[in-house]
Amino acid sequence: MVVGKPLFTVEQIQHRVREIADAISSDYEGKDILVVGILRGAFMFMSDLVRAIKVPVVIDFIIASSYVKTDSTGEIKIHYDIREDIADKDILLIEDIVDTGVTLNHLRERILARRPKSLKICALLDKKERRLVDVPLDYVGFDIPDEFVVGYGLDYDNNFRNLPYIAIFKKTV
Ligand code: IMP
Ligand code: MG
Repeated sequence: MVVGKPLFTVEQIQHRVREIADAISSDYEGKDILVVGILRGAFMFMSDLVRAIKVPVVIDFIIASSYVKTDSTGEIKIHYDIREDIADKDILLIEDIVDTGVTLNHLRERILARRPKSLKICALLDKKERRLVDVPLDYVGFDIPDEFVVGYGLDYDNNFRNLPYIAIFKKTV
């Protein structure tokens, strides 16, 4: 197993996180946000992001995992659901990476069914080439090619989440 050189360095990530936080702070001026992180992958991105957001936030999480049965359908299991009352709240959903879009699409529809005032989605990474389901993304950190990446919260088999940078991961055989 090989973790390559950083695809995005600590400095590049921190710079981009601040830009996104500034955009969010200005878009939500005068409002408060219910920030919902999708665990586990989004934990590091979310903790940096919320520290740089300048409007009041309430933090919650959702834990979901996908069980992919075929290439085109994924079944999502919810292990921990949002505890806050989300009706009439401005919700910002935080994801580490959007790949096929199946997970995020499912969570988005689930949240919208509970009638929030608004719902926006912020993803650190967007692997556009792999998209199967179109999900509207309001804030994106970086577009990336179809490569498997680890670090800054992202894992391979639950490893490498603690790397402070993002790198391409190659499985050696
Ligand atoms: P989707 O439902 O196909 O969009 O899958 C999104 C989820 O797959 C993310 O939340 C990640 O947990 C995982 N994932 C997709 N691509 C990668 C990657 O390159 N590295 C690590 N996790 C990934
Ligand atoms: Mg994930």
